[in-house]
Amino acid sequence: MYIIGGTASKTVAEDLSKMLGAPLANTISKRFPDDEFYVRVIDDLSGEHVIIIQTTYPDHNIVELFLLQNAVDEAGAKEISVVIPYFGYARQDTKFEDGEPISAKAMANLISLNADRVITVDPHKEHILDFFSTSAVSCSAVPELAKYLKEKNIDLVLAPDKGALERVKHASKIIGCDFDYMEKTRIDGTTIEIKPKKLNAQNKNIAIIDDIISTGGTMAKSIQELKKHGAKNVFVACTHGLFAGDAVKKLNSAGCNEIISTDTVQGKFSKVKIAPCIAPFFK
Ligand code: R5P
Repeated sequence: MYIIGGTASKTVAEDLSKMLGAPLANTISKRFPDDEFYVRVIDDLSGEHVIIIQTTYPDHNIVELFLLQNAVDEAGAKEISVVIPYFGYARQDTKFEDGEPISAKAMANLISLNADRVITVDPHKEHILDFFSTSAVSCSAVPELAKYLKEKNIDLVLAPDKGALERVKHASKIIGCDFDYMEKTRIDGTTIEIKPKKLNAQNKNIAIIDDIISTGGTMAKSIQELKKHGAKNVFVACTHGLFAGDAVKKLNSAGCNEIISTDTVQGKFSKVKIAPCIAPFFK
């Protein structure tokens, strides 16, 4: 068994390599002067089970994944597992308006071409797994996020909307605290409304857990609401920290006490490792 980490998922690949006792394949990657990507796998992968790990965000990382998959296939690997810590385009999982693509399906179709199985983490909605024409499963980062939050004396975990309720229910069991949800209405891609809800936030340490922080709008509104209701400390935790534009500034201005994300998207808030959630699939 060999592991290949694409440039978007180096840390996850290194962690998995240690956890599974499987070597990291040696690769060379570079960009041509016109910015096209080049990759070469040095080790002999013929007859091997190869696990390729690559987050498909932002867009250029998708191309790198396709090239890695093809290189491994051309090298004669026996089995190709593709681990996608953060599967980009998952939120366009249907045609919301006539004429739109089902972007998640378009991505899944192409990734399936050179994969015997796909594993991803906390997809926005589970049904996107059906878009893959190869076996596809997901795992949840919630246990690892909850272990981190357990050290923070959390009194209450909150979902920013009802759709995320199961996630906080799960986290609350690990942390040993209460759970609840906020009432969110999305107006458009950048505007949301968090309606006041009768929450007892007074003097509490509260963690809001979501699958994604993108513009930070959802979390910022939630934090403001909780602070209005007298919360002592508000932690925001997510699986996929995209932090688009001025998201971090928005969260801090809203009064956030700590930002926590996993390393499905590598960044300065990647305080929680995702490899322990993925490793069991290969044991
Ligand atoms: C939406 O339903 C997701 O679970 C997240 O709440 C959303 O994608 C976060 O986006 P933003 O950070 O832009 O508010």
